[in-house]
Amino acid sequence: MLHITVAGTGYVGLVTGVCLAEVGHQVTCVDNNQEKINLLREGISPIYEPDLDELIVKNVEKGNLSFTTDSKNAYAHSDVIFIGVGTPENEDGSANLNFVYTVAKEIAESVEQDCLVVVKSTVPIGTNDKVEAYMKDHLKQNVKIEVASNPEFLAQGTAVRDTLHASRIVIGTESETAKQILMDVYEPFKQPILHMNRRSAEMVKYASNDFLALKISFVNDIANLCERVGANIEEVTNGMSYDERIGNRFLNPGIGYGGSCFPKDTKALHWLSEEQGYILRTVKAAIDVNEKQKYTLIKKARNDFPTFKGLKVAVLGLTFKPGTDDLREAPSIPNVRMLLNEGAEIQAYDPVGVENYKKLFPDQITYKSSIEDALEDADLCFVFTEWQEIKEMDLTLFKKKMKTPFIYDGRNCFDLNEVKGKGMNYYSVGRPSIMEYYVMDEVHA
Ligand code: UGA
Repeated sequence: MLHITVAGTGYVGLVTGVCLAEVGHQVTCVDNNQEKINLLREGISPIYEPDLDELIVKNVEKGNLSFTTDSKNAYAHSDVIFIGVGTPENEDGSANLNFVYTVAKEIAESVEQDCLVVVKSTVPIGTNDKVEAYMKDHLKQNVKIEVASNPEFLAQGTAVRDTLHASRIVIGTESETAKQILMDVYEPFKQPILHMNRRSAEMVKYASNDFLALKISFVNDIANLCERVGANIEEVTNGMSYDERIGNRFLNPGIGYGGSCFPKDTKALHWLSEEQGYILRTVKAAIDVNEKQKYTLIKKARNDFPTFKGLKVAVLGLTFKPGTDDLREAPSIPNVRMLLNEGAEIQAYDPVGVENYKKLFPDQITYKSSIEDALEDADLCFVFTEWQEIKEMDLTLFKKKMKTPFIYDGRNCFDLNEVKGKGMNYYSVGRPSIMEYYVMDEVHA
């Protein structure tokens, strides 16, 4: 049986470790954060992710899974070590590899037997080569160490499902031994395994994420144009999606992509490309469109409210997408900041993101425990995340609860036919606006 250690208990590391245990491997997850390890030992995931807690408890009970801060000991006796630590963005947009190198050094100094190190973190092309050389320089014992690339394609909110039923497993290595070990590790998953060289594997990850980011930015660009020419993006993307070459996924317009991956990975690839003397124009365009798209709703609201000073603003949804409590690069953040700077009073609702939001805005926002409360007496309302609960809400609440029902929906949550007749002014992205509030007023007058 292979002894596997996973370094890092964030999205990538933790989900990988838990799923490897679930298919029958012996897994130790390490993290230097004692608090996180304590929580995990109690069967509590430090991140909000459907199904994760259950699988942690189940596999700890089965004896397949353990958690420790004693990384040295864990690395010393492992056959395979996965690196799943974060690679955040540097100020210039390049990828920050400090965590990867810190772990690599620790592994090199700790290993007491031959082992395969597998980089799961998203790293710039060529990093695996560098990490391998760096580790060989820092080895303390006479052991053989190899590095392979095995990028992760899971999305937050569906991370467990994405890992257990992945579309593909990419293994990047030039070594036959490393390839064989990884084939054994992934055999129980029964998924397509693609073997390629390390640099190609590193590139597959960036190219996939950047392609999806580009797809979203393209749709947002077309949505903005639809508004100007009287087309409806929903009908347009539906029409496009029947072409199997285009497909129907990642065609939802909105206030831009957020999260810990697309914003960072588009910038990192663009940066890396520039360093190679090549300008990746398409990716640069995706970045630029996304940057502007974040503020498209607030621009619309300015047509109705020249200033937000003293206005009560209801905010529905705070996280970068539904199904997660993650706020990294959430489009709600720059919007909320702008509204607060202008003197708006914000009352916000999010089913799971509030605790994290409080770390960013502890006192400046009034947090409400229901959609209804957030709408109470508001002058206008922004929808920033398409939580199911928001998509299914009673649309008559807007008119009933708000002072003036001006709704700016950044995720096209509601069917336009359902919105009609509810007496509100409703703006979404790339679709015709519905303006019934003034009409109703006139009727009443
Ligand atoms: C993304 C990729 O989907 C994963 O395959 C990848 O493994 C992961 O990054 C990563 O590199 O770790 P994630 O960031 O969790 O996953 O979330 P997505 O579901 O891809 O959504 C990203 C952003 O795009 C969200 O803000 C979402 O609202 C936005 N989006 C998505 C749209 O605006 N329109 C769409 O049609 C789809």
